[in-house]
This record gives sequence, C-alpha cells and structure tokens, in this order.
Amino acid sequence: MSALNTFSYDVLVIGAGGAGLRAAIEAAGQGVSVGLICKSLLGKAHTVMAEGGIAAAMGNVDDRDNWQVHFADTMRGGQYVNNWRMAELHAKEAPDRVRELEAWGAVFDRTLDGKILQRNFGGHRYPRLAHVGDRTGLELIRTLQDHTVYLGVTVHMEHTVIDLLMDEGRVAGALAYERERGRFHVFAAKAVILATGGVGRAYRVTSNSWEGTGDGHGLAYRAGAELIDMEFVQIHPTGMVWPPSVKGILVTEGVRGEGGVLKNSEGNRFMFGDIPDNYKLQTAADAEEGWRYTQGDKTARRPPELLTRDHVARCIMREVKAGRGSPHGGVYLDIAWIKEKIANAPEHIKRKLPSMYHQFKQLADLDITKESMEVGPTTHYIMGGIRVNADTQESTVPGLFAAGECAAGINGANRLGGNSLSDLIVFGKRAGEYAAAYAKRRTAPTLDTQAIDAGIQESLKPFDRGHASGNPYTVQSDLQDTMQDLVGIVRLETEMQEALARLAALNARAASAGVDGHREYHSGWHTYLDLRNLLAVSEAITRSAIERKESRGGHFRDDYPDKDPAFSLFNVAVALDATGAMRVSRNPIPDMPAELKQVIEDQKQ
Ligand code: FUM
Repeated sequence: MSALNTFSYDVLVIGAGGAGLRAAIEAAGQGVSVGLICKSLLGKAHTVMAEGGIAAAMGNVDDRDNWQVHFADTMRGGQYVNNWRMAELHAKEAPDRVRELEAWGAVFDRTLDGKILQRNFGGHRYPRLAHVGDRTGLELIRTLQDHTVYLGVTVHMEHTVIDLLMDEGRVAGALAYERERGRFHVFAAKAVILATGGVGRAYRVTSNSWEGTGDGHGLAYRAGAELIDMEFVQIHPTGMVWPPSVKGILVTEGVRGEGGVLKNSEGNRFMFGDIPDNYKLQTAADAEEGWRYTQGDKTARRPPELLTRDHVARCIMREVKAGRGSPHGGVYLDIAWIKEKIANAPEHIKRKLPSMYHQFKQLADLDITKESMEVGPTTHYIMGGIRVNADTQESTVPGLFAAGECAAGINGANRLGGNSLSDLIVFGKRAGEYAAAYAKRRTAPTLDTQAIDAGIQESLKPFDRGHASGNPYTVQSDLQDTMQDLVGIVRLETEMQEALARLAALNARAASAGVDGHREYHSGWHTYLDLRNLLAVSEAITRSAIERKESRGGHFRDDYPDKDPAFSLFNVAVALDATGAMRVSRNPIPDMPAELKQVIEDQKQ
C-alpha cells in the first residue's frame, strides 16, 4: 500500500463519456477538486458512436413541440415504468443543456433561419433531435472535453477501476490499475460519480465498444447499491450484418429519419403490415408513400420504419425467420430511393449521413447513395442500471452517484433514440452538482488499507495460475453466446434457467482462469478483470427477466407475449445479499402526480 500512488479528490468521476465529462464540468464549476478516470483515451468514449442526435424539445422545426410532448413520448416509449420524475426533469432541462453546448462551441446543423436543426426519430412525435450530421456524439464529446480540460480537471487515462473503496458504509474512493504499465493506483474521494456506460459486451452482437463491460453496474452492485430494470435491454433494429468482422456496428436510426426504408428480399416494405392500431394512415397518398401518419387528431411525419426499436427489431427477425431476409441474415435498408424525391440525392445523403456513407464504403465496399444496406438487430443499450435519486443522482450507497447509461430510471422499459445523449447532459450535470455539494459537507474519508491490499492480491491471482488453468477470452466468448442465444431478443423461462446454470459454470471457470506474462498492456489479464462485471450484469439481466413474466418494451417473452398491467406497478430490483447471492425484489413505482398524469392524457388527445 505504501508503494502505491494515491490521488485525492473531493469528487472522483469514473468514465469520460458524455455523462462523466458533463458531471466533471459541473463539479469543477462548484469549486471542488475533481479527478476523472477513463478506461480509454480521453475523447474515445463510446459516446462518440452516438450518431443520430440529442433529443430536446426546442421546437425549432415544429413549434408544437414542448417539454410536455417530450415527457409523454418518453413515458410511452418506456411503457410507463419509467421514473416519472426523471422523465420530467429530462424533458424540461434538455433544451437548456443543448443551448449550453452551443455556447461552449458545439457546431450543430442549422435550419434555413439559423436555428439548431432537429430531425425525426423513432417514437418522437415531432422532429426533435438536434444533430451534427450523423456525428453528434463526436461533437458532444469534443465540446465537453475541451471544456473539461479548460476547467483544469485532472484526467487519468487508460485506467480501469477494480473496486470501489468504502468507509463505514459511505464511498471513499476507488482502486484502479493503469493499463499501460499494469500498476495499481488508489483514488481517495469524498464522492464518486459512476458514468461508465453500458453492458453490450455481454452479448455476441453489439453496437457497444470494447469498454461496454458493465463496470459501473458491477462496481455499484458489489458496493451494495441496488440495480433496477436490468431485464430491459434495447436491441437496436439496425446494425451492420456484413462483413462478419463489423457485425453489430450501429447503422444510425438517422438513416430512417432521413427517409431510409426497410425492405425484405421480396422488395416489400414489411413494416407496413405492423402499424399498431393507434397509428392511422391519413390519406391514400400517405399509404403509398408511407410518409405521414396521424395519432389521435395530431399529424406527424413518421414512416412505419420509425416505430419503436423493439417493435422494428422483432419485425426484422420475423422477416429473416420467414426466409425473406438478405443473404447475410438481415434485411435491406434503402436510402438511395430518395433520388425519386430529392434533386442531387447522393450529395444530400453524404451531407446528412457522412459517417454512414464512409462506414459502408470502407467496411463493406458499398455505396449507400446507390445500393441498399444489409442490416439486422444489434444489442445497443441497457435501460437498467443503478437506482438513483431522480433529482440528485445519488445511489442507495451514500456518496455514490451515477449518471448516463449505468444509471436507471428515465427510460423505463425502452429508450427512445436520442434520449441517451440528452440523458447524459441533463443528469451528468445534476450528478456533478449534487456530488460536489455532498463533498463540501464531508471530511476526507479513511482508506481501508486491508481492502486495498486484498483487492490487489485478488487481481493478481491469475498470474499465479497461468493460462493453462483456463483462458479468460474463452470464458468471455462463451458468456456472449449464452446471453445472445438464451437471454436475447425473444426470451423463454426454460432458456433463461439454462442461462443461469451456464452462468454459474462460467463464474467457476472465471474464478480459476489464469494468464502468463507481465502486466503491461496485458489484454488477457484485462479481460479476466472485466469478467466479474460482465458475469454480474448477465446474472442481473437474467434473474430480472425471469421475474418479469410479461412482455414490455425491450423485454419480450415468448411464454408471456402480452403486457400485464400488474407488472406496470413495480420495477424489478437486484442487490447483493448478506450471503453474497443476488437477491431479486420488486420496488413499487410511486404514484405519478396528477398534473403529470394530465400531461400524458392531454397528449393522447
Ligand atoms: O440510431 C442512432 O443513431 C442511435 C441513437 C441512440 O441510440 O440514441
């Protein structure tokens, strides 16, 4: 312990995606010392992969938009098991957070009269996504990163946190290792903010980067925090399916937002067969073009391809299973057709979707201005995560805050596209503000040197065993197959029980896995250390999915294909019990205030 580097901060932020950076900015602005740990290099967080835009009811393109509509859309998308207070704060505060980004230098696409341009996206009633072509996440990170550095936040790059440190029930910092040298470092902090993103790497096919191993979920769970809604895993309908090396990479919903249509091998726009009753075609011309729908007496320009993600993903799977898929197990996404509507369509597509154009050109040798893409479902996002207080983002562990994808609540059973970038900046700011306030009220924590030594010894055990005792990569690979095959897009009790049995065996294999060599940039060792979190989140997803005996949002059960109103009354929660086992419980959802109920009713009109 005495040989370790120890860094001390008032607030330690773990994760440098949109939520972590925004939290660090806010905390630093409150005058406390802030340290920021990132697993990758600064500027490389998975947020850069967010393409389509930031959902914020600014009303720049359709002035009927406002926070009430956004709130109602978010609750409907989440199938009403959302934390309604988070959904309310999010809808109200997102426009200010976007304007703030603009003031800090973000360069948005513009309307003809110079306002921030907003585009259509699935489940949003009006064009709502403020965007920068299809590189919105990159611009968001660039802007926040510049601001973070400007404020003098200390950044520790290529560090991975192994454990949170505790002091008599409150969080006291973190034990981390530096990937480059394999050295351990201790971070003492009065408050810790987790902003580590998602869990996609628990699945074989995912849009998530290598960092999405559920670190924050696992760290919080082991520190005693409650995780909720873990059964709700979002499958994005459109990932690349070919070539195999890039399978799962995101094909932004922005393609469909710009007019892209889904077709099966027979050339049919199969989504037309699946328009729910509450969406009605307005005119015969709309039916032909598939371009405009009414909901109640409100008209919105929304093709059936922009129905919610779970719905579109299941329709794609149905086409594939029925033998109407593309050669590599997907369906076709066609944006080139807009040449029938728009002069100079190829230039328009390249301007609106520059990343998609280059992605397909470089990775699949395909020109999307001329040919259809092959796309299929990919694990994209987890709605579940650390249970937090809606206003402060503090978890059930004192001093431990969470924001962004690793926190739960705002999205309920399913997230609308674009609501993640706005979630990051709305709740990142709140986490930073309240963590700083918490830190100001606290004295420095006492570090538990025994726990630190034990954490280091445990982490080094695979070097004693050597790789002959078991390979961490094969454990991870088998875990991904288990989750993909048994707890994926369509679920069954028997298959999920089988997954639990396999997860127990994988836990045993992980505990005896070993590695050879030295600690510098040892990716086998890093994979070994990731396994604890991946296994914990996989078990949490599976147990929660077994508990929810209905289908809702991102959770679809073949044995319970309908929504059951009894399950709209609670969130499934998991936590570590005193014996070290995972306890599953049901947390009642607090009653929504009358004025918010009224907002939802008004929007149904
Ligand atoms: O399709 C997309 O661009 C994804 C956006 C999101 O998940 O928010």
